[in-house]
Amino acid sequence: MRQNIVAGNWKMNKNLEEGLELAKELNDILKANKPNCKVVIGTPFIHLSKVAEIVDKELIGVSAQNCADKVSGAYTGEVSASMVKSTGVDYVILGHSERRSYYGETNEILKEKVDLALANDLTPIFCIGEVLEEREAEKHFEVVKSQIEEGLFHLSAETFGKIVLAYEPVWAIGTGKTASPEQAQEIHAFIRKTVAEKYGKEVADNTSILYGGSCKPSNAKELFANADVDGGLIGGAALKAEDFVGIISAF
Ligand code: PGA
Repeated sequence: MRQNIVAGNWKMNKNLEEGLELAKELNDILKANKPNCKVVIGTPFIHLSKVAEIVDKELIGVSAQNCADKVSGAYTGEVSASMVKSTGVDYVILGHSERRSYYGETNEILKEKVDLALANDLTPIFCIGEVLEEREAEKHFEVVKSQIEEGLFHLSAETFGKIVLAYEPVWAIGTGKTASPEQAQEIHAFIRKTVAEKYGKEVADNTSILYGGSCKPSNAKELFANADVDGGLIGGAALKAEDFVGIISAF
């Protein structure tokens, strides 16, 4: 059966010292109070190897926030999936809306990243979601469907089984506006149906689909209570151990 997951996305926050402090604090809290879900933290690249060393792997999975769409070579400033894996981490967030909109990542590019992540034994946390105009024009279903089709549906059923999906409506990211539990359930059910149509019910039932976008301790419980919401991808509230743990304890 699918896992419930609470994953933090630190984005471009915390220098190395601050990041290690947060990871250690979180590890101590979760050690004393075992979580009822899988917990993952997505740190900047430079934190990965040290964070992977200090956290207890049973308690906290560690994730990169991106990887290159090329294997290796003359790509100044890029970090490959194999380099990410060599730091000792197991996850990579791919296709975050900030990568899609500020860095021009298309579904075509993301498809390459997904393949390289999987080839290097990393679990992709693959983000999808519509912008406000698309939601207002009631195009959100077709937008997320094409993001999934173009970024992931080249995979075999067995390989697709390694993907974690994160639905993040762009209008809710960092805005304080959250999708209502009904809106989240409606689109998560649609996403699961889209996966089922391609790979069958069993694969769809085993796929974790996280919600992201202004998720916080005060709304996590009602979001996660929905049948098709299997946890969250958390930005702002992942930067303070207390808030992040507040969300984890929604399970
Ligand atoms: P937020 O970010 O929780 O700050 O809205 C979520 C995300 O971008 O993953």
